[in-house]
Amino acid sequence: MKKEEILKEIMKKKEFSRLPKKDVELAFAKFERRQDSDEEKVRLTRELLHKVYSSFTSLKLLSPKNKTAEWVLRKHLSTRERLPYYDEIYSRILNNFGRRVSIIDLGAGVNGFSYNYLKEQTKKVDYFAIEGVGQLVDLTNDYFAREKIKAKAINMSLFDIDEIKEIISQTDKPRIVFLFKTVDSLEVLEKDYSLKLINEIAPFVDLIVVSFAVESMIKRQRFHANRKWITDFIQNNFKISDDFQYGGERYICFEKK
Ligand SMILES: C[S@@+](CC[C@H](N)C(=O)[O-])C[C@H]1O[C@@H](n2cnc3c(N)ncnc32)[C@H](O)[C@@H]1O
Repeated sequence: MKKEEILKEIMKKKEFSRLPKKDVELAFAKFERRQDSDEEKVRLTRELLHKVYSSFTSLKLLSPKNKTAEWVLRKHLSTRERLPYYDEIYSRILNNFGRRVSIIDLGAGVNGFSYNYLKEQTKKVDYFAIEGVGQLVDLTNDYFAREKIKAKAINMSLFDIDEIKEIISQTDKPRIVFLFKTVDSLEVLEKDYSLKLINEIAPFVDLIVVSFAVESMIKRQRFHANRKWITDFIQNNFKISDDFQYGGERYICFEKK
C-alpha cells in the first residue's frame, strides 16, 4: 500500500478518524521503515495513537447525547480525578489575576466542561481549548452553545506551533496557558517537544501551568523517577510562582524570568 492509503486505513477507525493528519503521520513514521507488513504497521500505529489520544477517554464520550457537564467530566480519566478539587485548583491558579483573563487550554480533552469552575474565580474568562480529537472538540463546542458560554474549542494539533502562537497572540491579556497531563503524550511522538513548545509560547503569556500525575495505582515508582526532566527544565529556565498537588496531580505554575 502507498503511504497515503495506509494513513487512510489507520484513520478508518472512528477513534482516530478526526485526528490531525500530521499527528497520524508522526505516529506512523515510528513504524514506517520496519520490515513488517502494512497490516502490522497499521496495527502498531493505531496502538500508539490510542495510547496518546484516547486511552483516557471513555468511548461513550465519542457519541453522547446531551449529558451534564459532570457526567462528561466523570467519563474522562483526567477530569474524573480532578473533579473534587477544581475549586481549589482554579482558585490557586487565578489567585493573582484580576477580573478578566484568557485561558488557552492545550490538549484540553474535556476540560472545557470545567468552565463554570473557572467562572467562579473571576468575572470574565475567555476560554480556548485546543484538542486533537475532533469528537471531543465538537462535544465541548456543543456544550458551550447549549449553555450559552462564550468559549471555543479548536481542533488542532499541538505540533502546529505557529498556529498555536497565532491563537494565543489574538487573545486578550492577561493570558494563562494550561498544559494539564499532556506533556507525556507529546513526548511519545517527539522527544523534547513539550520543552520546545513551552519555550516558544512563554514570551506570549503571563503564566503557564503544567500538570502531571505523581501517583498511579499501577506504577507509583516509575512516575516519580520520570519527572526530573521537566521539573529541572522549568526550574532552570523559568520563575516558579506556585507548585502544589491535589488528587495525585502536581501543578507547577511558572512564568518567564
Ligand atoms: C491525558 S489527556 C488530558 C486532557 C486534559 N488536559 C485534562 O487534563 O483534563 C491528554 C489530551 O491531550 C490531547 N493531545 C495529545 N497530544 C496532542 C496533540 N499533539 N495535539 C492535540 N491534542 C493532543 C489528547 O487527545 C488528550 O485529549
